[in-house]
Amino acid sequence: MRMRKRRNLTPRMEQCAALMIDQPEALRGRWLTEHPALWHLHAELGCGKGRFTADTAEALPDTLIVAVEKVPDAMILAMERVQARGLANVRFIDTDAERLPLLFAPGEVERIYINFCDPWPKSRDAKFRLTAPAFLRRYADALPSGGQIWFKTDNAPLFDWSLEQFQNEGWAISELTRDLHENGVVGVMTDYEAKFHAEGVPIKRLVATKADTTKTSADGAVPRLRDAALPDARGFQKPTHPALRLVPSTKELTRAFYRVFAHDPALFEDESRLVPYVYDEAAVDAKFEERQKRVNNSPYFILLGDEVIGELVLKNLDEKEKSCELGICLVNDSVKNKGYGTAAERLALEKAFDELGLETVLADCLLKNTRSQHVLQKLGFRFVSEDGHFKYYKITRAQFEASRTGRE
Ligand SMILES: C[S@@+](CC[C@H](N)C(=O)[O-])C[C@H]1O[C@@H](n2cnc3c(N)ncnc32)[C@H](O)[C@@H]1O
Repeated sequence: MRMRKRRNLTPRMEQCAALMIDQPEALRGRWLTEHPALWHLHAELGCGKGRFTADTAEALPDTLIVAVEKVPDAMILAMERVQARGLANVRFIDTDAERLPLLFAPGEVERIYINFCDPWPKSRDAKFRLTAPAFLRRYADALPSGGQIWFKTDNAPLFDWSLEQFQNEGWAISELTRDLHENGVVGVMTDYEAKFHAEGVPIKRLVATKADTTKTSADGAVPRLRDAALPDARGFQKPTHPALRLVPSTKELTRAFYRVFAHDPALFEDESRLVPYVYDEAAVDAKFEERQKRVNNSPYFILLGDEVIGELVLKNLDEKEKSCELGICLVNDSVKNKGYGTAAERLALEKAFDELGLETVLADCLLKNTRSQHVLQKLGFRFVSEDGHFKYYKITRAQFEASRTGRE
C-alpha cells in the first residue's frame, strides 16, 4: 500500500532531528560506544509507523533500537511516537535495509526484527522480500554467532517461503508458530499486527538463529530464485475468511436469508423505487420454488459460521461455451465492507473453474456500484464494456490462475 504524503514533513522531521541518524556509516562499529548507557543493540527493518519500535524500546530500556525505514512519510509517525513518549533508546535511519552492512560492523547487532514486511508476491520481485537469500546473508554479516532474527507476518505464503529460505541458508529455526495469538496476545504488537489480529488473521512467527551453518556474504553468489511467486497473494493478501462457505440453496436457508434481508440502494438504479423489505414467508417459499425450477442455475447461500450473510448464484451455465454469470447479494449493511463479498466471489470462482470445469465467468454491475466493480477487479476480472446502465466484466480460467498465484 502506498503511504500517504504527510503534511509539513520537513519541519516535522526537523522537530525529531535528535532521533534521526543522518550519517549512520560514521557510527558503524561504534553504536554502543557512542551510547554508553545502553548494553544491547537491536535493529528493526521497515519499522513503519513505529508502534512496535516504541513499545519494544520501552520494554527493553537498556537496549538501543535502531529502526530502519525507507519511507520518510511512515518514519515520521514512528519518530513522533518515540519522541512523545520520551524514549531515549531509539534511533532512526531513513534508508533501505539492503544497506545494512554499511551501517553495522560484522557481529555488531544482537537481534534483528522483521515485522510484516512487504510480500512482493510476483516471482520476479522475490528478491525484494526482506527474507530473500541476499538479505539473509547481509543480516548474517551483521549478527554474531547465536544472534537472532525475529520474524512475524500475517502472510502464510510469505511465511512458508521465508522459512524455506532461512533453512536453505543454514539458519537454526525455533519458536515457529502459525497462530501466535491463538491463546491470547503474546509479545509486542506492531501496527499491522494489531490490525490483522483484530480481523481474525492468524499471525505467523519464527526465530532464526545464526549458526555455524549459516551463510554470510562471504559464501558468494546467492541461489537464483526460481518459481518464487507467492500463491494466494496478489489481491488476496487477507486469507479467505476461514468460516465462510457456499452452501447450495434450501428452503430453510432462503427463509433465514430473507428474515434479515434489507435492500441495498447500490443495486437500484432508481433509488426512489426502493421500498423497505417486509418478510413474507409464503412469498419467500414461492421464490425458492421458482428458483429451483430454473435450469442452468446454481444458487448458493453464503454462510459465515452458521449465519446466512448473502446469496450467490452461478447462472446461465453454458456447457458448450463453458461459461456462466456470477451474481451476489449480501443480506444487509451489517456484513458489508468486511471483505465477505470478495471472499465469497473468490470461492465461487474456485467452484466455477476447479469444480465445474468452466473457462469463463461473466459478471455485471450497475454503473454507480463502484464497490462491486472494485471487488471484481481485485479478483482479476477484466472490464469488457458498458451500456448506459451496467458495466460488464469477464474473467477467464487463465486470468484467475494468474491472479491467484500473483504471476501477473
Ligand atoms: C507492511 S509495512 C509494516 C510496518 C511495520 N513493521 C508493522 O508491522 O506495522 C512494511 C514497512 O517496511 C518498509 N520497507 C519495505 N522494504 C524496505 C526496505 N528494503 N528497507 C527499509 N524499509 C522497508 C515499508 O516502507 C513499510 O513501512
